[in-house]
Amino acid sequence: MTAEHWTGVYEQKRTTEVSWFQPEPTLSLELLTAADVGTDDSILDVGAGSSVLVDRLLERGFRDVSVLDISPPALQAAQQRLGQDASTVDWIVADLLTWKPERRYKVWHDRAVFHFLTTPDDRARYLDVLRAALQPDGYIIIATFAADGPDRCSGLPVARYAPNQLAEHFPGWQVLRTDREHHRTPGGATQPFTWLLLARNPT
Ligand SMILES: C[S@@+](CC[C@H](N)C(=O)[O-])C[C@H]1O[C@@H](n2cnc3c(N)ncnc32)[C@H](O)[C@@H]1O
Repeated sequence: MTAEHWTGVYEQKRTTEVSWFQPEPTLSLELLTAADVGTDDSILDVGAGSSVLVDRLLERGFRDVSVLDISPPALQAAQQRLGQDASTVDWIVADLLTWKPERRYKVWHDRAVFHFLTTPDDRARYLDVLRAALQPDGYIIIATFAADGPDRCSGLPVARYAPNQLAEHFPGWQVLRTDREHHRTPGGATQPFTWLLLARNPT
């Protein structure tokens, strides 16, 4: 059901037409810098779709970039855009909630995926996968619709979060930084987002 929905979305629309399209992943890059993440560190972009974050990371010299999405056409569009450079990226077609990571990553990046999880069960599965995938010294960069953001995206209901509400879903991590962003959709609407940068609590 989820895979069919998202495959259909990317088959029907150009990657620059979807409401979440952003020409520059400005805050993602800013938060990576804030976390002092280096080009040797591994980055996993979950539910990445056709985001240009991978392009910008490769341009900046990042060598260990993984891109996961449930929708094959979303990843194919990004691969075509990148051309030969696509071969340097680990592309993972998987449902995040059942994915079994084979390694660990320094950074877990999620823009506009967690907010589609509207049941405690799905959020618990997400957290289980995140814990299995993230290095102990890793960082989480996550963005959801803000508390006053839209209540649907891509025809699906979403949960909306103020920074403290979102942070409550990541027990054991401390918030290093919060941001509020007004995303401008290709159709001209404005969508407020909540962003968090989190690191493991020192033990
Ligand atoms: C709103 S889009 C955001 C895409 C991208 N992060 C960006 O900022 O442009 C949500 C993405 O999550 C993917 N997605 C939704 N549910 C997923 C799941 N269970 N596992 C993996 N990807 C999923 C969709 O295919 C879609 O590409």
